[in-house]
Amino acid sequence: MSQAISRRQALALSGAAALCGAARPAEESLDALARKKGLRFGTAMPAGALADAGYSGLIAQECGLIVPENELKWYVLRPSAERFDFGPADRLAAFARERGLGFRGHTLLWNRDEYGAKWLPAHDFGSRPREAAGRMLRDHIRTVAGRYANQIDSWDVINETVDPATGELRATVLGKLLGPELIDICFHEAKAAAPKARLVYNDYMNFGAEEATHRKGVLKLLEGLKARGVPIDALGIQGHIGGGVDSTPVARFSAADQRDWRAFVDEVRGMGLDLLITEFDVNDRAMPADTARRDAEVAALAKDFLDLMLDYRELKQVLVWGLADRYSWLQGTAPRADGLPKRPTPYDTDLKAKPLRAAIAAAFRAAPERRTWA
Ligand code: G3I
Repeated sequence: MSQAISRRQALALSGAAALCGAARPAEESLDALARKKGLRFGTAMPAGALADAGYSGLIAQECGLIVPENELKWYVLRPSAERFDFGPADRLAAFARERGLGFRGHTLLWNRDEYGAKWLPAHDFGSRPREAAGRMLRDHIRTVAGRYANQIDSWDVINETVDPATGELRATVLGKLLGPELIDICFHEAKAAAPKARLVYNDYMNFGAEEATHRKGVLKLLEGLKARGVPIDALGIQGHIGGGVDSTPVARFSAADQRDWRAFVDEVRGMGLDLLITEFDVNDRAMPADTARRDAEVAALAKDFLDLMLDYRELKQVLVWGLADRYSWLQGTAPRADGLPKRPTPYDTDLKAKPLRAAIAAAFRAAPERRTWA
């Protein structure tokens, strides 16, 4: 059933439709547009995509850097407490090196047991568990960050350690053994192992009143790290917009939400931290079924978000969490009511550019220049 679309959607539709449609970007790459403003553009990439010549070719054409989607996480790197498996991550590192792409690290510790090493919760740390846990953590970070010290330009040292419900650190196996200094240990060890890399705290805090506790908890964490002189350079804002996997869908940011979000980012900037958008995508779970209307809404929300964020000269990199819909993690999360595949990324399943790509390009063109992360 067709419904009248708003003037804004019609404008977004006509403007974007005129620009997209090319199977390959006829104009400059998104990274080329980003570089003109002191930014870089990239994407998450799974090792499995290396065998997909079309997709990996598009990544090399559009991006200036990649981040392994899962291959540097404990559950992939550490099949057991004794063994490391660097195979998949090394293949992605080689892909980046051979194509002159930058390489981000995600993540030295995802401090959430459900996403950690499978064997960790039942691991026997022996008669002195605190010392043993500290040794394991330091050894992991030295080994992993040290291995890529000459290639990785920034590390998500810690991912998602703030519980959105309480604003406190999540309760985890390592956290229980080492206490809150666990976070400091990770940053100090990462600095020692990879002194050239910028060090990032990465989380999915977002717009909206329901995320206020999460934002507050992240500010508290960052303030503590800065007060203790912990070597941290930036906050990674994941940028999964459009409504969380289970939370309220968002088609537009209200003025109040934008005000509260700016206040949050202003506080982070006030701590002297830089900013990254590390995992950008638009969850269209509750947006219209019609492809043209949905793509227009995705593009409009993305442009609002990027225009707001690019106003901060501290924002240095924008990475999407998948460059094409078929590789988006969102296909495996809370489904749309109509069961249609989601359209959260700049390219569709046939690797055709979508209005979201045009929106990202337009945001980069409109962005103020900033000093690049050299
Ligand atoms: O590779 C195995 C496969 O062998 C097995 O048959 C299959 C079924 O069990 O699982 C496959 O592993 C899956 C992996 O993705 C690779 O596809 C894991 O189960 C699945 O949990 C994993 O999901 C990843 C998720 O993080 C958890 O690690 C998503 O791909 C990835 O996009 C997502 O990314 C996270 C960021 O790291 C942090 N921020 C949020 C973001 C979205 O959740």
